[in-house]
Amino acid sequence: MKIVKFFFIGRKNLIRRCLNNLLDNAVNFSKNIKVKHQKIKRSVLIFIEDDGPGIPSSEYENVFKPFYKVDKSRNQTKSSVGLGLSIASDIIRSHGGDIELGKSEMGGLKIKIFLPV
Ligand SMILES: Nc1ncnc2c1ncn2[C@@H]1O[C@H](COP(=O)(O)OP(=O)(O)OP(=O)(O)O)[C@@H](O)[C@H]1O
Ligand SMILES: [Mg+2]
Repeated sequence: MKIVKFFFIGRKNLIRRCLNNLLDNAVNFSKNIKVKHQKIKRSVLIFIEDDGPGIPSSEYENVFKPFYKVDKSRNQTKSSVGLGLSIASDIIRSHGGDIELGKSEMGGLKIKIFLPV
């Protein structure tokens, strides 16, 4: 096993909040989750994917807007407000990074986070 060590300098509480929001979504919307990370040159890539219903690509931009939920019937029983993704993307962007949505081979959502180190 190859262990790659690296340091990322950032606001610990904000990064934690961002990852919590994304993992919280994955837990709420799916059964199985896969998380991996990779360091390429001067950036860290973090992938979070799941086997839930995913998000239609036509909604990728909208879900980053505050209070936006794709399908209101999906999570009516939960106390969700639609802020998790907008906060997560603000945090990543405030660290000079980027966040992208896509389709996972597991069937659900795949989130790719890029952070400069
Ligand atoms: N992993 C996911 N799989 C499927 N749909 C998702 C996933 N993550 C987010 N979504 C969709 O994107 C919407 C916005 O997500 P966001 O985290 O911003 O809000 P929320 O989870 O509804 O509420 P909050 O995070 O404020 O509790 C969700 O309501 C859901 O429709
Ligand atoms: Mg959420």
